[in-house]
Amino acid sequence: MEDLFAAAKAARANAYAPYSNFAVGAALRTASGIYAGCNVENVAYPEGTCAEAGAIAAMAATGERRITEVLVLADSPDPISPCGGCRQKLAEFAAADVTVILAGPDGERVRTTVGALLPGAFNQDHLE
Ligand code: THU
Repeated sequence: MEDLFAAAKAARANAYAPYSNFAVGAALRTASGIYAGCNVENVAYPEGTCAEAGAIAAMAATGERRITEVLVLADSPDPISPCGGCRQKLAEFAAADVTVILAGPDGERVRTTVGALLPGAFNQDHLE
């Protein structure tokens, strides 16, 4: 968990969030290592991307496809909660039992799973 937290913290320090002023870092554990991302906003607001999406893109660009643990870090009154789109993005590469740690600046706040965050997810079985 400490390695994931450190990776998310380093990425969060590079968050580009001039519009919301809400910096987020995300880190993904995989067999080939840890991949991290930060949110990257845009003056055309819907074009901004979440930290989880950035981390997934960094992972996918190496050819890695399987997430075994997730940590999302932000400084908010309630523990950070991945947005709906990011829950679906995580479910693409992580099994339902994969742990998702929601962290604040001082460390872990909540521990949940990809399946708990997105019950009844639309998945590849639906395409058959
Ligand atoms: N954000 C993330 O990066 N991840 C989340 O899980 C929730 C929200 C970003 C998007 C936007 O840049 C800022 O936080 C405020 O919504």
